[in-house]
Amino acid sequence: MTEQNIRYNTVAIWLHWIIGLLMIFMLFFGEGLIQRVQGTFYPSVHVSLGITILVLSVARLAWRLMNPPPALPTTMKPWEVTVSHITHWAFYALMIGMPLTGMMDISHAAVRNAELLQASVFGLFNVPVLPDLLGLGQTHSLGAVAGKILVILHVGAALKHQLWNKDGLLRRMSPH
Ligand code: HEM
Repeated sequence: MTEQNIRYNTVAIWLHWIIGLLMIFMLFFGEGLIQRVQGTFYPSVHVSLGITILVLSVARLAWRLMNPPPALPTTMKPWEVTVSHITHWAFYALMIGMPLTGMMDISHAAVRNAELLQASVFGLFNVPVLPDLLGLGQTHSLGAVAGKILVILHVGAALKHQLWNKDGLLRRMSPH
């Protein structure tokens, strides 16, 4: 089997793209959903997608720990391998940390916006509120900034591999 034919397994690939699209949407448009001043106010969409990302990401992390990824192309330099590992694990931390810190941040919402507390997850139950004992709720918006930077780095790296290195890295994550 050549390096180009080595791919992640089907479950990992589908989880990558479903969570990836949800993360891109939430990072770049999620804040707008809960900003009344911008004319939009869809807190239930924000929390429903956030909880979806959390559930899928916990499943994805478990799957990842049981299914190590295929070896990286041998042409990659050690620093590139290190940066890719750091980026990937930072994504896992964000995919799980962002929804959790959001549920902590919402515990202060009574002051800022009582309606946020009424937001429902797909109309099934009210958004769970976690006690913000360590003040981690404040890191929710910081995480959004970090996430945007990581997405730009990650997509930039994927494009570099595809167009510059031409090493078939993108194929490792493509459904076909
Ligand atoms: C257009 C958007 C994207 C492209 C083209 C893309 C492409 C890729 C590729 C080619 C890989 C495999 C890298 C390797 O073989 O080591 C990968 C892995 C990964 N991507 Fe993306 N990605 C995109 C969006 C995202 C987003 C938004 C996230 C955030 C959740 C994300 C999270 C990850 C993670 C965590 C891995 C590592 C998977 C693992 O080893 O467990 N990706 N991506």
